[in-house]
Amino acid sequence: MTDPDLSTLIEQAINVAQKAYVPYSHFPVGAALRTNDGTVFSGCNVENAAYPSGICAERTALVKAVSEGYRLFDIIVVASVAGGSPCGQCRQMLYEFAPDLRVVLVDFDGAIHHDLTLRTLLPLGFGPESLPHP
Ligand code: THU
Repeated sequence: MTDPDLSTLIEQAINVAQKAYVPYSHFPVGAALRTNDGTVFSGCNVENAAYPSGICAERTALVKAVSEGYRLFDIIVVASVAGGSPCGQCRQMLYEFAPDLRVVLVDFDGAIHHDLTLRTLLPLGFGPESLPHP
């Protein structure tokens, strides 16, 4: 991937974080998830008065993409105030579709804090191949 492509994804992740609905945590997060054909799905975190019902930015982007028929992904950029790392639930949901996903974590200035793979974030992950197939 060329740097301009990555810069665009970073911009998209930062921009969608502005849409975050975060009245409880005041911690906006944005994600830009790219499919194998170059389509990008963005997502923000959406919280709820019943706290556990809220959803993270990464899973918002993922369920948007899968709902539109996309299941192959090559990179996700996640933007938050200090370039924080995806939660375990998001790692697991992404692993189902893209264990080799490139994960780039940036802050709201666009600075890259980590550029690594989902397998690194979720070693020995449990995926579809972990289940017996009759
Ligand atoms: N959150 C995300 O959206 N993604 C992450 O990678 C970490 C956490 C959200 C969940 C909640 O709305 C807020 O950030 C504080 O945990």
